[in-house]
Amino acid sequence: MNRGHSLKWTALGLGLSVLGLGIGGFSQAWAQAPGRGPAHGKGPGGPPPLHRGPVSYYMTSCASCHGPDGNALGPGFAAKLSETQLRNKVREMAEGMAAAPIDGPILSATTAFVRSIAKQEPYVAWINQAGPNLTGELSPGTKLVVSVRGKPLTATIRGLNWSVKLPAGAKPSEVVLTATRGRARHQVALSEGPHSFHPGHGRGGPRGPRGRR
Ligand code: HEC
Repeated sequence: MNRGHSLKWTALGLGLSVLGLGIGGFSQAWAQAPGRGPAHGKGPGGPPPLHRGPVSYYMTSCASCHGPDGNALGPGFAAKLSETQLRNKVREMAEGMAAAPIDGPILSATTAFVRSIAKQEPYVAWINQAGPNLTGELSPGTKLVVSVRGKPLTATIRGLNWSVKLPAGAKPSEVVLTATRGRARHQVALSEGPHSFHPGHGRGGPRGPRGRR
C-alpha cells in the first residue's frame, strides 16, 4: 500500500520531467485535485515561511520518547487517524508530555512531519528568508533538490538544515523543493505552502481520494 503509493508519486514526478511539463503542471494538477481548497494566507507573493522549525521542534520536544526518525511512534498509527485527530493528538502531546505547547502553522507543520516520519516518507519545510537566502529543515535520511523556475540550485545541507541562495530576481514563490527518502518522493511548490504534506492531507483540509488507505 505504502510502497505502491510512493511508487506512484515517483512515477508521476519522473513522468512530468520526461514530458517536460515541469513543475507548473504538477502544482496545477495538485491544486486542482479534489478536496484541495485554496491555500490559507496565500497572497500574491505566496504564503510566508514558517519562522519556526517543525523538525527541530520535534527533535527537542518529542524525539526523546518517540525516536528521532519516529521509530517509536507505533507503526500504522497515522493511517488510522484523520488529519484533525492527528493534529489534536500532537497538540495534546505538545501541551502535556512535551510541555512545549504549539498552535497555528507550526502545529500543522509538526503534524505533517509526524505523519511523514511515521511512514518513513520525506519531509521538507521552508523556515526563513533573509534577502536572497532561504533556509529550512528536512527529515532524517532525506535528499533534497531545490529548483527555481525548473533549474536546480546548489543547496547546502547540514544535518537536518538546508540553505540556498536564490539567483537575482528570483522569488521564493518560484521555488520548488523535491525531497526524496528511499523510494518515496514529495514535491512542495512554495507558491502553495511552506512545507510538504501528504496528498489528501493538505493543511487540515478534507481527505482527498489519495488519503483514503
Ligand atoms: C515523555 C514521553 C513523551 C513525549 C516527550 C512525547 N510523547 Fe507522544 N506519546 C507518549 C506516550 C507514552 C504515548 C502513548 C499514550 C498516549 O497516546 O497518550 C504517546 C503517543 C503519541 C502519539 C499517538 C500515536 C502512538 O504512537 O500512540 C503521537 C502522534 C504522539 N505521541 C506524538 C508526540 C509528539 C508530536 C510529541 C512532541 C510534541 C510527543 N508525542 C512527545 C510519550 C511521549
